[in-house]
Amino acid sequence: MVTIDDVKIVALPKHTDPRGNLSFVEQLNHVPFEIKRTYWIYDVPGGESRGGHAYKENQEFIVALSGAFDVVVDDGQHKKKFELNRSYYGLYVPAGLWRSMENFSTNSLALEFGSKHYDESDYIRDYQEFIKMKQDGEI
Ligand code: TYD
Repeated sequence: MVTIDDVKIVALPKHTDPRGNLSFVEQLNHVPFEIKRTYWIYDVPGGESRGGHAYKENQEFIVALSGAFDVVVDDGQHKKKFELNRSYYGLYVPAGLWRSMENFSTNSLALEFGSKHYDESDYIRDYQEFIKMKQDGEI
C-alpha cells in the first residue's frame, strides 16, 4: 500500500551561471516515470488552494517554477506537507494518495508532469470514497 513515505523530494540538476541558472528534468531519470502529460497552474490568487483529490493510477512530479506553494499528501493514516519554493527541486507523488496544493504565493507557477493522459475516471474526488478505497486495499 502506498503511503506518504513514498513521496520524494528530488534535487534537480542546477547549472549556476552569472547569465542565469539552468535546471532540467528527464523522464525515467529525475522524473521516475514516462511523461505523458505536462500542465501548469498559474494566475492563482495568493493564499488559494487547488487539487484536493487522489489519482488511482496517475503519478505526478511537481515543480514550483516560480513562487511558492505547499503540497499536502495524505495516505488516510498520516499527512505530510511539502513546502515547494525552489525551481531546482521536484516532488514525486505516486498514485493512491490524497493530495492538495495550498497556500499559493501571488504569481506562483506550478509545473506538473503526469504519467497518464488526462482522464476524469482516474480521479477520486470524494475524500470518504478515498478512505474507503484505501481501507479496502483498492488503491
Ligand atoms: P483538476 O485536476 O480537477 O484541478 P483541481 O483539482 O485543482 O480543481 O483540473 C481542473 C479542470 O481542468 C478539470 O476539470 C479538467 C481540466 N484538465 C484537463 O483538461 N487536462 C488536464 O491535464 C488537467 C490537469 C485538467
